[in-house]
Amino acid sequence: MEKIVSLCKSKGFIFQSGELYGGLNGCWDYGPLGAELKRNLKEYWWRKNVQERDDIVGMDGSILTHQAVLTASGHVGGFSDPMVDCKVCKKRYRADQLEETPLCEKKAQLPKGEDKTCELTEPKEFNLMFQTKMGASADDDDPNAIAYLRPETAQTIFVQYKNVLDSSRQKIPFGIAQIGKAFRNEINPRNYTFRSREFEQMEIEYFCHPDDGMRLTDEWLENRLQFYSEIGIPREKLHILDVPADDRAHYSKKTYDIEYEFPFGIQELEGVAYRTDYDLTKHRDHSGRPLEYFNPETKERFIPHVVEPSAGCDRTLLAVLCEAYDEEDLTKEGGKTDIRKVMRFKPCIAPIKVAVLPLLKNKPELVAKAKEVKALLQPHMNVYYDEAAAIGRRYRRQDEVGTPLRVAITELLPWLLARIV
Ligand code: GAP
Repeated sequence: MEKIVSLCKSKGFIFQSGELYGGLNGCWDYGPLGAELKRNLKEYWWRKNVQERDDIVGMDGSILTHQAVLTASGHVGGFSDPMVDCKVCKKRYRADQLEETPLCEKKAQLPKGEDKTCELTEPKEFNLMFQTKMGASADDDDPNAIAYLRPETAQTIFVQYKNVLDSSRQKIPFGIAQIGKAFRNEINPRNYTFRSREFEQMEIEYFCHPDDGMRLTDEWLENRLQFYSEIGIPREKLHILDVPADDRAHYSKKTYDIEYEFPFGIQELEGVAYRTDYDLTKHRDHSGRPLEYFNPETKERFIPHVVEPSAGCDRTLLAVLCEAYDEEDLTKEGGKTDIRKVMRFKPCIAPIKVAVLPLLKNKPELVAKAKEVKALLQPHMNVYYDEAAAIGRRYRRQDEVGTPLRVAITELLPWLLARIV
């Protein structure tokens, strides 16, 4: 993991947010290559799940969320993790993640044999939502000014379900997809970008007839596994956890966690959850607005059930980076150690699709042709032009950032072209 983190920084994939001032815990900035990679991932997800399907439409909801929305969904009352503090060193932990009592930072100097572990408080619930105040009345103690940064993109979809249905002429079953930021004040952000306080989700709420919920949950699981293999995360590195009833959210009839073998352990990438009619029923009851669906053919009226494939964009990206990272040993017998770092991205998400490399920079005709090729390709894809250093070194630079294609402009090319034409 350390090698991946180091390469991500040196090549401009991911930087610690606010690094100049010591870093903002749980927040990350994507650099030039990271931003391209993330865009490509999101675009690929959008293309597969929205543009190439007739039964899913997209939306882009606001991050600032009405407190009533999150009260109805249960987040205001119950979106919390159990937290414990050490009474001595004041460090804070998530109680459900502690396998044993941690070592206390203040007790490190105690003589051998003495208890050096933390003295933990009783667990208390800590709400993970970021609260803010909106508008000119924000200085006063106006409870109506309270708003939240959304903790998941899903609720924005549920509260717009009727507007989307009425405006898009969809019929059940149909889905609403969204990619966007979510915020959680995680007690212990950790494992690089894996558990962050600001992150992006790629979520689909798929509305269906109650009879179809279980079947569609299984179908979505297969669909999502296929997606991961297309972006370079092989099936054999994924694990499916059929979440036992006791561990599922109380409203879920079935949940699969899709987990990936990260270098720090097998951890969740995505949840595929059958959320029943819980969310729409809650929003109907709290808002007093009708959210039933009427099927004109069967004359049936019902609250749609929902199957939700909910993926983390940053987590998927981290899995893609882990999967792409490779080392090639080019050491010749008896020679100096030569380990080459290589990134192997699938072309659909690679940050740079093609590098255009004139063989020699002091040959004006090669440089001119290379620039012509670059200009031809640029409207269609992200192109990198490089004429500095020996061609071998330039190839190696592209290997390190996972560029799948190179066009080397050599003197042979005009000769070959003349013959092909
Ligand atoms: N709407 C359902 C929902 O939000 P979740 O399991 O809490 O369910 C879905 O989150 C996905 O969002 C997770 O599988 C994970 O990929 C991502 N995610 C959740 N919390 C995260 C965090 N603190 N940092 C990065 N990604 C996170």
